[in-house]
Amino acid sequence: MRAIQIPRLDGPEAAELVDIDEPGTDGVVIDVHAAGVAFPDALQTRGLYQHKAPLPYIPGAEVAGVVRSAPDRSGFTAGDRVAGLCMLTGGMAEVVTLPPDRVFALPDSVSFEAGAGILFNDLTVHCALRTRGRLAEGETVLVHGAAGGIGTSALRLAPAFGAGRTIAVVSTEAKGEIARAAGATDVVLADGFKDSVKELTEGRGVDVVLDPVGGDRFTDSLRSLAPAGRLLVVGFTGGDIPTVRVNRLLLNNVDAIGVGWGAWAATHPGYLAEQWTELQPLLASGAISAPEPVVYPFDEAGAAIASLENRTAVGKVVLRVR
Ligand SMILES: NC(=O)c1ccc[n+]([C@@H]2O[C@H](COP(=O)([O-])OP(=O)(O)OC[C@H]3O[C@@H](n4cnc5c(N)ncnc54)[C@H](OP(=O)(O)O)[C@@H]3O)[C@@H](O)[C@H]2O)c1
Repeated sequence: MRAIQIPRLDGPEAAELVDIDEPGTDGVVIDVHAAGVAFPDALQTRGLYQHKAPLPYIPGAEVAGVVRSAPDRSGFTAGDRVAGLCMLTGGMAEVVTLPPDRVFALPDSVSFEAGAGILFNDLTVHCALRTRGRLAEGETVLVHGAAGGIGTSALRLAPAFGAGRTIAVVSTEAKGEIARAAGATDVVLADGFKDSVKELTEGRGVDVVLDPVGGDRFTDSLRSLAPAGRLLVVGFTGGDIPTVRVNRLLLNNVDAIGVGWGAWAATHPGYLAEQWTELQPLLASGAISAPEPVVYPFDEAGAAIASLENRTAVGKVVLRVR
């Protein structure tokens, strides 16, 4: 089969298209049509992610395609349209084999390319807003990195989970258009976002901040919270891991909450299935829109991964595999 391989930790450009043996058949075997690209793919190509894959490795956390074969009683049969979670590596290949609990029926209304952009981000955002963030009806959610993969996912999902308003934080006006298309109620620029949020909320602040960026905007995020607000720590695309002066939590009665979706799923058996049971009907009915990813040809995986590293990516990025 054809697959993308990272032979050395030189960054995304090291990605090469190779011919290798297909994986074993002990699990649900999927003919992959599209593979998602996420920020950890970029970090891993430089050895900067917490998980270090032995070289050479196939990048890619998620796929969408058609079941070729499946174990008895797995709930899947040949020909089923599915999305699948590799979690860390292995997705950018023509064939993947996954355990049944990492495979999810894809609604007919969702294309393979959109389907390859759903699981990693939407299940993380579901974990953030529902499980960890306790989003309540009518609350206002501020989303950093709002034109990115996690950001557009948050904008698509938050209203379906009850948010009354979403405020998108982006670095450029062009990214603001992407955030609006994903459903943002309001868009503000990262530069000076605290004052913009104060004005938009008439001084009250927001109930929830979903933050995949971190870095130097963290303190202003805490300052942007209304009383009893929650800052959801999702990632650090900005580079620096911020520190919290905990008096800020005390003074305004706010929470800083870690969101480690993979770790949560690993310690809560059945969690992924529960999440999909909630999300799947919302996607099938259109209550949550499918992502509208930027699609790269398979042999341009390096450029696709680099677009996340160099901050030019808009929305979810996906590879067309076949
Ligand atoms: N906690 C979890 O369980 C979990 C699960 C999945 C992903 N994540 C994390 O979530 C984060 C976002 O992932 P993603 O796939 O959404 O990434 P993405 O599509 O590349 O979006 C990230 C956004 O971060 C902003 N950004 C700010 N400074 C940046 C910089 N120096 N370099 C690159 N981007 C920068 C960019 O928006 P602006 O240009 O508008 O600022 C960009 O749109 C990553 O850190 C990832 O590891 C965490």
